[in-house]
This record gives sequence, C-alpha cells and structure tokens, in this order.
Amino acid sequence: KAQPARQQPHTLDECRRCELWEHATQAVPGEGAKRARVMLVGEQPGDQEDLAGHPFVGPAGALLDRAMAQAGVDRNDVYVTNAVKHFKWEPRGKRRLHKTPAQKEVLACHYWLEGELEKVAPKVVVALGSTALKSVMEDGRATLKDFMDAPVRHKDYWVVTTYHPAYVLRVPGEAEKARAFAALAEALRTAYRLAD
Ligand code: URA
Repeated sequence: KAQPARQQPHTLDECRRCELWEHATQAVPGEGAKRARVMLVGEQPGDQEDLAGHPFVGPAGALLDRAMAQAGVDRNDVYVTNAVKHFKWEPRGKRRLHKTPAQKEVLACHYWLEGELEKVAPKVVVALGSTALKSVMEDGRATLKDFMDAPVRHKDYWVVTTYHPAYVLRVPGEAEKARAFAALAEALRTAYRLAD
C-alpha cells in the first residue's frame, strides 16, 4: 500500500532542495568503494554524467582517470562524487553549456555530501576545484590559492585541494596544462599517502 508522501523515503533523485533538478535528466550520486579511504569531490555532473547517471564519465573524467593512473591510484579504491548532484546548464545552440552552481545551490546540496561523508568516512577528501573546496570546507570564501599548498585537517579527515580536471583540459598553453596535470596527479598521490 502506498505511503503518504511525507513518510516516503527522501531520495536524491526526488531532491527539491534547490531548483537545479528541473532542467537535469537525473541526479548523479557519488559512487565507488563503500568505505573508501579517499573521497574525490568534483563540482557537478557535466553533460555526459547527466545523461549516464554516473560521475566523471565524460572528458573531465577521462583526464581524472589519467591523473589517477599516473599517481598509482585505482579508481575502484576511491569514492567519487560531486558537490552538486544535478547538472546546471544553459542552452548554446544545440549544446548544453555548463554553468557554475551558485553558492546557495552548493549549500542546498551540501546535505547530500555530508551524508556521503558520514557513510564512507574517508580519511582524506580531495577537493577538485573551487566549488568542491567551498562545499567541503563549508566556507563560501575558501579559495584555491589559500588551500592548494598543503593538506588541512577538517573534521575527521584531511582535505587535499587541487585543480578541477576540467581546468586542466581547458587551460591555454601546453606548459601550463602540463604543470596543472602534474599538480593534480601529485595531489592524488599525496591523498593516497595520507590515507595510509
Ligand atoms: N565535472 C565534475 O565536476 N564532475 C563530474 O562528474 C564531471 C565533470
């Protein structure tokens, strides 16, 4: 027998804590090892993640996979998620162009990230880019510049901050691209070491 609406379990896909669900195909939950010692947090699903229902399966995901391979990190050993679980976009011709989530959307979605952090209980959280950092640190003023240099202790885990893989993809100049990629791989290596 159907339960009254208020008693039904509140699932991520039913989330109405902000308005992003309206134009997204589906919510994209985090996935990976249930008790992973390292959790990677991105910004939000992109076009391909929105369609597939899985995090980091598009071009940024491919770059992240390469950085993990370079760092000797197995994707099956980590938990991968996003600060915001619905794809925010605007139409550009036939394409859906990524839009950075507003801080109020990041805050609304923090509820879900917190749930994942409690369940997985990682030793190290890797903040991939500024949106992830703001959510993980619960501080809308946190900047990459201030956190990139060294891991910080937050709650029960270390936070390692690095570039978002999409930044590495689009940054102009081969030298800067190589430098940013190396920094991303090094951050993953650091995270793995801290989790040991
Ligand atoms: N960018 C993100 O931040 N997360 C994804 O899942 C894909 C692209």
